[in-house]
Amino acid sequence: MNRNIVCIGAGYIGGPTMAVIAKMNPGRKVIVVDISKERIDAWNSTDFRLPIYEPGLEEVVREVRGRNLFFSTDIAAAVKECDIVFVGVNTPTKMFGRGAGRASDLQYWESSARTIKEVANGDKIIVEKSTLPVRTAAAMDAILNFGDSPYRFTVLSNPEFLAEGTAIRDLLAPNRVLIGGPQTPEGQSAVAALVDIYAGEGGAWVPREKILTTNVWSAELTKLAANAMLAQRVSSINALAGLCEATGADVEEVARVMGADRRIGDKFLKAGPGFGGSCFKKDVLNLVYLCEIFGLHTAAEYWNGVIRMNEHQQERIVSRLFKAMFNTLANKKVAMFGFAFKADTGDTRETPAGRVARLLNEEHVRLAITDPKALVNARKDLAGLDRIDLVEDPYLAAREADAILLMTDWREYPKLDWKRLYDSMRKPAIVFDTRNCLDHAQLKEIGFKVLAVGK
Ligand code: NAD
Ligand code: UGA
Repeated sequence: MNRNIVCIGAGYIGGPTMAVIAKMNPGRKVIVVDISKERIDAWNSTDFRLPIYEPGLEEVVREVRGRNLFFSTDIAAAVKECDIVFVGVNTPTKMFGRGAGRASDLQYWESSARTIKEVANGDKIIVEKSTLPVRTAAAMDAILNFGDSPYRFTVLSNPEFLAEGTAIRDLLAPNRVLIGGPQTPEGQSAVAALVDIYAGEGGAWVPREKILTTNVWSAELTKLAANAMLAQRVSSINALAGLCEATGADVEEVARVMGADRRIGDKFLKAGPGFGGSCFKKDVLNLVYLCEIFGLHTAAEYWNGVIRMNEHQQERIVSRLFKAMFNTLANKKVAMFGFAFKADTGDTRETPAGRVARLLNEEHVRLAITDPKALVNARKDLAGLDRIDLVEDPYLAAREADAILLMTDWREYPKLDWKRLYDSMRKPAIVFDTRNCLDHAQLKEIGFKVLAVGK
């Protein structure tokens, strides 16, 4: 068995993960493959116009591309050349048939398994990098090891915990690396081969005690559970934010004091417009579906509440803006500052800003959206909607606007000249800071009417 690695899927997970693995394992060849020629061309572009924006990513790709990291559309050749096969394809929520709106759509996953089976020329270790429903590895095993193939495939689960915007940092210094493997001699030797990638060639990359090994089903479930717990914390603090607004309490003070209890901890207690991103909603819905099929209906309802609360938060933002703007939004101009689902990414999948933009569009608002990295995606997401302008310059977006609605906590926004923004707007000028990241006292002094979340 050789030490080469192929990753099927060159997206937000495949690209950064493999770039870091290649950086830390200069003696291994790493190939990232995808069915999308456009994506592979972007990864290979001579001017490093990579298909995703992630701080620090370009530097790593510049260091390793062409050295021991390669991007290709020739999936068969790469699988033949590599005995360790990561699968990092997308697993979106299924929108049709059984489980529609909740279950994972596993068609890309299954087609990867069938391709591997078809082209394999020797024994392979298959590593689940995508987030998958519990027991997917059993289906993978059944497809790969079915029939009289002379080759043996061992399926491991190695979910990824990186967050977008901090992907490179998270990959270089992970809280933990999780590896689930079959409790058989063959399974354990595959686990050892995978540990070897992370323990690094000098053993210096991920400390051994941070590599946690479990059985396959625990690993698959832990990934869904970890995302569900994080999403639940965001929904919990947002549920408290509404109560703070109604009572005069301040959600930031409540979070700060709660978080000082080490049992609670201070992370993921930031009230805001609700969680976005490609994974939280999809993974919680997947958990809901799993609970339902195992007859755990109350547990399913509980997790579904996390999603309901999240949607409610965006509806509440629109309602509050509506009220602050004298119960009519038609033909008023709102400048939306930030469209990405969080700062430091151009990703707009499930972004709260997208839902709020659509709700405002239904009210016939004229929207000017600005964002330092996400306008290309915003254009695709909002295609076909009228009364929407995408504007690079925030000062231009705010000109003649009735309100600024800050949706993403980009570091540059607090540094803008807010007096200049105020002077160019219609009065009374409103700022709705849904991330609580601006200096509200200063804004009020300038003359703005300020709305915030949970205060
Ligand atoms: P993505 O859509 O950015 O990338 C997936 C890629 O797989 C696409 O480029 C697609 O063309 C390719 N693909 C699909 N079917 C293929 C096939 N049969 N052969 C070759 N390529 C194929 O998705 P992503 O954000 O990278 O997420 C991938 C998985 O990783 C998901 O399961 C997700 O839940 C999980 N994950 C994502 C993140 C994140 O930060 N985005 C974090 C942790 C886990
Ligand atoms: C999340 C997890 O943090 C990762 O561990 C996981 O690997 C990843 O999902 C995944 O499986 O895809 P990500 O979605 O990239 O990462 O970003 P987060 O930092 O978790 O933020 C998610 C959303 O919650 C963002 O919209 C963010 O603004 C929001 N959020 C987060 C809050 O509103 N408040 C908080 O306190 C924290």
